[in-house]
Amino acid sequence: MHPGEIKKEFVSILKALKSRVEIEKGFGIEIVTLARSDNRVSKDPPDSPINRNPATTKESCGVQARMSKKETRTRQLEELRQEMLTCHKCPLNESRTNLVFGTGDPAADLMFVGEAPGRDEDLQGEPFVGRAGQLLNKIIEAIGMKRNDVYIANVLKCRPPGNRNPQPEEIALCMPYLIKQIEIIKPKVLCALGTFAAQTLLDTKASVGTLRGKFHDYKGIPMMVTYHPAYLLRNPNDKARVWEDMKKVRDLLLELTHKKSQT
Ligand code: URA
Repeated sequence: MHPGEIKKEFVSILKALKSRVEIEKGFGIEIVTLARSDNRVSKDPPDSPINRNPATTKESCGVQARMSKKETRTRQLEELRQEMLTCHKCPLNESRTNLVFGTGDPAADLMFVGEAPGRDEDLQGEPFVGRAGQLLNKIIEAIGMKRNDVYIANVLKCRPPGNRNPQPEEIALCMPYLIKQIEIIKPKVLCALGTFAAQTLLDTKASVGTLRGKFHDYKGIPMMVTYHPAYLLRNPNDKARVWEDMKKVRDLLLELTHKKSQT
C-alpha cells in the first residue's frame, strides 16, 4: 500500500474509533460526562462557585431572577397538576395507579417529551424511571447535564393498560396539558423522543427516521426529534444517530446560553 493510502486508512480508523468511544462513553455502561468543564450546559451544579461563594451583585441578581422564575413556574405547574388529578376526559385515569405529570427543573432550558408512562412510571408517578429512563439519564449526562437540569414529560400522563400504544383520542384529549406545560416551562430547546411525541407535536405522520437529525419549529421553539430510549434498547446500533442528534442539542443550548450571557 502507498504510504499516503496507509496514512488515510489510519486517520479514518482513528476517526471511527473516536466516534465509537464517544458513543460508548455517552450511552454505554459507564456514566461519564463528555462536556468539558468550561463547556458545561448544566446551570448551577451543587458545588459550583456560585453556590459556595458569596455572589457578586450581577450574579446575585441573576440568581434571584432565576429563583423567582422557578418559583412562579413551580406554582403554575402545581396548579396544572392539581387540575389533572381530577381529569376524567378519558378512561385511563381509572386504570392508572398514579398520574405521571412530569419531573425536573420548572425553568429548564431543555425539555424532553416521551410517549406515555409504563409500568414503573405508573407505580412511581414519575416519567422515565424504568430501563428506558436509565438510558435517558445517560443520554442527558452525555451532553453535560443532569436529570434535574432538564424537564421530562410525556404526551400521555396516564399509563395505557398493558403498555399499548396511545390512541388518537387519548392523545387529542391529553395534548392541551402538554401544551400548557411547555407554555409554562418555556424551554429554549425541545427534544421529542420517538414517534408519538414527534408526530403529535409536529402534527405530521412522518417517521422518526425522516424527522430526526435536524431542528423543527414548535411554536417558535427549536425541536430536535430523536429515537425513543426504549427503541434504542432494542436497536443499540442507532445509538450513534441519537448521539449525533444530542450533540446538536448540546451545541444549540451552548450557543443560546452564550448569546444570552452576552446581552
Ligand atoms: N416511555 C415513555 O415514553 N415515557 C416514560 O415515562 C417511560 C417510558
